[in-house]
Amino acid sequence: EIADVRGRPILDSRGYPTIEVDLILADGTIARASAPAGASTGAHEAVELRDEGAAFEGRGVTHALRILHTEIRPLLRMRAWNDLDEVDHALAALDATPHFARLGANTAVATSIAACRALAHTQQVPLHRWLAQLLDTAPALPVPHFNIINGGAHGRGELDFQEFMIAPVAAADLEDAIRIGAEVYHTLGRQLRRRHGTTGLGDEGGFAPPITDPEVVLDHLVDAIAAAGYGFGSDGVSIAIDAAANHFHHGDGKYTVNGTDYDRDSLSQYYQSLIDEYPIHLIEDPFAEDDDLGWKRFHARAGHRIQIVGDDLYVTDVDRIRYGADHGYSNAVLIKPNQVGTVTGTLNALRLARARSMTAMVSHRSGETLDTFVADLAVGAGSGQLKAGAPARGERIAKYNHLLYLAETDPSLPYGPAHSTAQAG
Ligand code: PGA
Ligand code: ZN
Repeated sequence: EIADVRGRPILDSRGYPTIEVDLILADGTIARASAPAGASTGAHEAVELRDEGAAFEGRGVTHALRILHTEIRPLLRMRAWNDLDEVDHALAALDATPHFARLGANTAVATSIAACRALAHTQQVPLHRWLAQLLDTAPALPVPHFNIINGGAHGRGELDFQEFMIAPVAAADLEDAIRIGAEVYHTLGRQLRRRHGTTGLGDEGGFAPPITDPEVVLDHLVDAIAAAGYGFGSDGVSIAIDAAANHFHHGDGKYTVNGTDYDRDSLSQYYQSLIDEYPIHLIEDPFAEDDDLGWKRFHARAGHRIQIVGDDLYVTDVDRIRYGADHGYSNAVLIKPNQVGTVTGTLNALRLARARSMTAMVSHRSGETLDTFVADLAVGAGSGQLKAGAPARGERIAKYNHLLYLAETDPSLPYGPAHSTAQAG
């Protein structure tokens, strides 16, 4: 039973407010969760509720908290909730808009995640196992995808591609993967300082060096992987890119990367030349969210070689994922709970991805808190992949460190993509 509901504004990793929700249970336990926030958001994401006005540059959450206390609190308290569906449907019914425009997806997702913790606690099942039961999956520890170079909306504004990630795909276990990720990160940092004098940090804890050419970044990554003593691709460390192409699309399938103009076909060729040249196994958002032809053609050409992930394209929405699967847009899906506003919606997206043999990669947001839900979700879904930023900075390592805790306390969990329940076909 939920005895009471309380919320407060806290700061996220970018120094903007976000909402933290406590569900206080009859036995005194506090089930707590907070909402992350994106910067390069998709047009079709559930709506984040922000105050207007001067405070926090118009990003306050006073109104969201008022709704939590005056509407969600009376809805949830003094009642016994038996399952998550009930809670999430009550939230959606209270909102009564298609995308949480009234309550805010930030308000809804923090409440929904807190409800998961409350229910798992009541049923005395660890959260990752409880999520696996709901999904009817075999839980597994995911391969961490460490974002070690930040560009796009998260960087200095010179590098067009948003994320350059490394995935220790040949690691023996999670601990090994985290050690490899951290070693390559440190090696890369030294290398960038040596060659560029300085290196800043982006929003996700990756370096943000003064580089504009994606190939120069990729050369740095390859050098750092080798200098740290590792091999490439399936024999060692593999590279993943989130192009976040909305950012450098200017309509009609026209793009500009590093000062060069591309149409959707020449951009597709450019990606294919990068795949030929570098150990890349994954590209996320290679095309803008509304460039249907770009997605379709690239998937037809490169889908057998790499994982093509839709993030802004799908925004964790079942209807959009189904449409993309039907039309051959991609072979993989990014999963972010706050894009859809409830954990139930997120689990439905994961179920659909599995049914359509699309790989699901669970993801944090660029604005984060210390909440570790996405780590439990990646394990519970057995999806094989989690991206949670660099192997540094508190809000990023909170997720990776939680994976280490799960590995220790639940030693029967297998590690890696081999155990994924939704491999790309
Ligand atoms: P965001 O970036 O959280 O700013 O949307 C993450 C991503 O694009 O994957
Ligand atoms: Zn993305």
